[in-house]
Amino acid sequence: MTDQPPREQWGTRAGFLMAAIGSAIGLGNIWRFPKVAFDNGGGSFLLPYLIALLTAGIPLLILEYTIGRKYRASPPAALRALYRPTQAIGWWQVAICFVIATYYAVILAWSVRYVGFSFTRAWGDDPNGFFFNDFLKIADEPGTISAFVPGVAVPLIGIWIITLIILALGVRRGIERANKIFIPLLVAFFVVLVIRAVTLEGAADGLNALFAPDWGALTNGSVWVAAYGQIFFSLSIGFGIMITYASYLNRRSDLTGSAMVAGFANSSFEILAGIGVFATLGFMAAQSGVGVNEVASQGVGLAFIAFPQVISEMWFGQAFGVLFFGSLVIAGLTSLISIVQVIVAAVEDRTGISRTQAVLTVGGATGVVSIALFSTNGGLYFLDAADHFINQYGIALAALVLLIMVSWISRKLPALQRNADGTSSILLGRWWKICLGVVTPVVLGWMMIDSLVHEFQENYGELPTSFLLYAGWGVALAALVVGIVLSLIPWRRPSPALTDDHDLLTKGDPR
Ligand code: ALA
Repeated sequence: MTDQPPREQWGTRAGFLMAAIGSAIGLGNIWRFPKVAFDNGGGSFLLPYLIALLTAGIPLLILEYTIGRKYRASPPAALRALYRPTQAIGWWQVAICFVIATYYAVILAWSVRYVGFSFTRAWGDDPNGFFFNDFLKIADEPGTISAFVPGVAVPLIGIWIITLIILALGVRRGIERANKIFIPLLVAFFVVLVIRAVTLEGAADGLNALFAPDWGALTNGSVWVAAYGQIFFSLSIGFGIMITYASYLNRRSDLTGSAMVAGFANSSFEILAGIGVFATLGFMAAQSGVGVNEVASQGVGLAFIAFPQVISEMWFGQAFGVLFFGSLVIAGLTSLISIVQVIVAAVEDRTGISRTQAVLTVGGATGVVSIALFSTNGGLYFLDAADHFINQYGIALAALVLLIMVSWISRKLPALQRNADGTSSILLGRWWKICLGVVTPVVLGWMMIDSLVHEFQENYGELPTSFLLYAGWGVALAALVVGIVLSLIPWRRPSPALTDDHDLLTKGDPR
């Protein structure tokens, strides 16, 4: 171990928190949460959402922070040091991050173009036709790739260059500094956007539609599944990101307090996004003389079809468009950086190559796959299928397996709790082990069954079975297989991860 340079560290606790919050706040907050809340009980959804945050979100954040900080390594090496068989889960998470990074970057590239399109309202009076036909030049059939789309490729190359430069600059000079600039900028953009949105005609109807409680929905299991699913994606847990980011923490850092701050900051932003989006949808409904439920949408439909229509209808909508798409770019970029860092750090730890080499090789390769596949006229179909399957049968499944291995098979939770408590402001009680050992695995297991049932009832997104077999199931399975295969390759160099003996050092640490 002596030939290895010392591991990088965050400059300040605020720097780490900014990066963790930057990773959490992403597309999931802005374009996913509002509609998920609306569909699952509106105002009453906040209850299962809060319970999911407290029983799964924050406990898992603390678990990932503790593993990363204790072993000071990326997921494969840290999990290997925790309990050798879980190394495969670490590599599985790296493979999941690879898949997500390839398509997540594309949405940022589209958003960059839409910042420009907002100035001229380039979509005219047909945002739908403009997006699918003029901009994406979408193929008729899923799975066919017959044209390269330079309008997507050029901004996508730019996104990858910026991401890789930030990562090559390192944890402190790159990731930390970028987040310290981007997060305040994002908050400033978003606050102005929300103020404008709530002052629009019809905004109150949108907010009423979002927050009107439907208490009966709480008896519906799928509402609870939606709440836990949202918390997972939104808080960036189960990706290996938080293990990686926490591996650069100071040995004495407060873990539980940081998890609370990151968890509540992310949820506050999410609720703010719900207010901004639904106030805007209320305006859109009022302009078209229809109910808010008829214009409520999420994801691609919300950002690239509904919002452009609003921008066209609004006085000085160009500025609104720049704020909205600019927010998507900034929020997404800080998340993308964290996703790619998982891959880069894992390869650095495993091979001993320098950060720059790791960024150029694996970071560059991820970028090349992203550009080659998603700058084509078939890209959107691949994105849709990969996103759904890697979330359901990648992130959530990997988290379920990890929790079972850590809490039931290796029984490591008490040791991890002691480690976290050794330096934290808020001490963990028995509730932490109950949440991680019982509540979250039960809910995740239920989520798996629920989504598998849906999968067999109807094809996801009405996509053809043959396409889903390789672009959906195949991708999720490949991530798992890659994880297992990589974990079977013997380590020829010492692992950078600290061992459990390291606990002897931290026991005496002052709080
Ligand atoms: N947590 C990130 C998001 O919400 C991945 O988009």
